Amino acid sequence: MTPPDPLFLATAVEIVLRAGDIQMSRQQSGFRIDKKGIRDLVTEVDVECERMCRSVIAERFPDHDILAEELGSGAGQPAAARYRWVFDPVDGTTNYAHGLPIFCASLALEVDGHPEVGAVYDPTRKELFTAERGHGAYLNGTPLAVSDATDVLESLLVTGFPYDVHKRASELVGLFAAFLGRARAVRRLGSAALDLCYVAAGRFEAFWEQHLKPWDVSAGVLLVTEAGGRVTGMDGSPFSATAGHLVASNGGIHDEMLAIIREFRASYARES
Ligand code: IPD
Ligand code: CA
Ligand code: CA
Repeated sequence: MTPPDPLFLATAVEIVLRAGDIQMSRQQSGFRIDKKGIRDLVTEVDVECERMCRSVIAERFPDHDILAEELGSGAGQPAAARYRWVFDPVDGTTNYAHGLPIFCASLALEVDGHPEVGAVYDPTRKELFTAERGHGAYLNGTPLAVSDATDVLESLLVTGFPYDVHKRASELVGLFAAFLGRARAVRRLGSAALDLCYVAAGRFEAFWEQHLKPWDVSAGVLLVTEAGGRVTGMDGSPFSATAGHLVASNGGIHDEMLAIIREFRASYARES
């Protein structure tokens, strides 16, 4: 395996750390909050972090592509260049806007459509999650490994809901209830990137969600697989960042997670 260019990881780390500094200092100074939809927020800080990322990448790697949440387009489209940086300037914007300290910046570098480098930074806890394909996943430089649980009953799970949850609340909440009935407990933190990093760190056994965007998951999925976990679509299909649905787990409970989803969907289809 060719060793990755160390400048890629160094750049990813530099950008998420700088984003963390912006997030923390703007929380003191205050920031404007706008609405993208009825519930979906965007703050000045999201935009400021994304501008910083775009300018660092443009200066350092002018021929690389960027897919980021706030200032561009292209989600769902293949990269125009071989190298594409995928950035979520604030993952957990609703938490951030409410002063709830569960948010991060997430950056991945995809090469030919596959994430090769990932960095996620939670500035509140000063936790920096990093991964390079084939070289493991790390938290502040210490290697990470998923948990070794083999039963959902012994597992702490996490999920998230899309901004249009109200349109399909009964289905989404129904699946949530199905997991509540089977797991030790289920959480909803509000940051998909951190949910994935916490699976990589063995804090959660599994995470599932649908309607996610590539910037929510690209770095975190690499973290999970490099920490020894497994990631698929919710139907067991190979994971695709553009499909938007996933189950990310420690591997040991993956098949049971998929079976619970399958059973729930079959009974939901019969009843509706
Ligand atoms: C959101 C968070 C949340 C998830 C939503 C995402 P944002 O990203 O990751 O946990 O449930 O689906 O859109 O809007 O805070 O960047
Ligand atoms: Ca996000
Ligand atoms: Ca975001």
